Amino acid sequence: MSILQAQGLSKKFGGLDAVSELSFAVEAKEIFAIIGPNGAGKTTTLNMISGLIKPSAGKLKLNGQEISIKDSAERCHLGLGRAFQVVQPFPEMTVEENVLVGALFGKSGVSEATGRKLAQEVLKQTGLLALKDTPAEELTLLQEKRLEIARALATQPKVLLLDEVMAGLRPGEARQAVELVKNIRNKGVTIVFIEHVMPVVRDLADRVMVMDYGKKLAEGSYQQVTNNPQVIEAYLGAEE
Ligand SMILES: Nc1ncnc2c1ncn2[C@@H]1O[C@H](COP(=O)(O)OP(=O)(O)O)[C@@H](O)[C@H]1O
Ligand SMILES: [Mg+2]
Repeated sequence: MSILQAQGLSKKFGGLDAVSELSFAVEAKEIFAIIGPNGAGKTTTLNMISGLIKPSAGKLKLNGQEISIKDSAERCHLGLGRAFQVVQPFPEMTVEENVLVGALFGKSGVSEATGRKLAQEVLKQTGLLALKDTPAEELTLLQEKRLEIARALATQPKVLLLDEVMAGLRPGEARQAVELVKNIRNKGVTIVFIEHVMPVVRDLADRVMVMDYGKKLAEGSYQQVTNNPQVIEAYLGAEE
């Protein structure tokens, strides 16, 4: 059974079909990429999965359980973790405090002691342990991105949603971030990510879904989708 299933997912903003009749399934422990031109509906799709916005139509299942009518806090409790395109930590809180917030509010019934232990593990995993007492506002962009991922991980997700976490990183930094994401998957977390940086997609994705005008244009391996003439015309060709 797929861990995440979308069936006929649609979102209208006024007269605009931002996402229309989108269906896809993500397998457990898969790294699933969503790519496509600006305005294709990628972020809207992720927002509907996390519960940030309500679909106009369609169904979503997590581990076979219908989650379409659950709010984002409930979805988080059920195992959907989210890191945002625009990093949004609490600026005056330390790195550790920011991660602790994720640990305590992600799952119900996490005691402070357990939360601190979990935060410690996540800080180690994301390479932030040495910075744990640094206020979030003093971090570099790469460190901020690590923190954003750490906060999502601290909620103990089964499925981690990442929206362009590589944006703005230098190539060397992006390679480090790729390693971090691979590590997270190797610990058993399913990853759904939106990405514009194609070498990152190539290195990470088990499967790629290409969106255009709110619809699925293609789906398959990196090789398959990047050789698809429609994808080249709609997305890859336009990049040059
Ligand atoms: N809150 C909103 N209100 C109105 N239109 C929106 C809103 N969010 C996104 N859109 C529009 O929906 C379309 C898809 O946007 P988005 O999902 O952000 O695309 P992507 O992430 O692929 O660049 C775009 O045309 C965008 O302008
Ligand atoms: Mg977007």
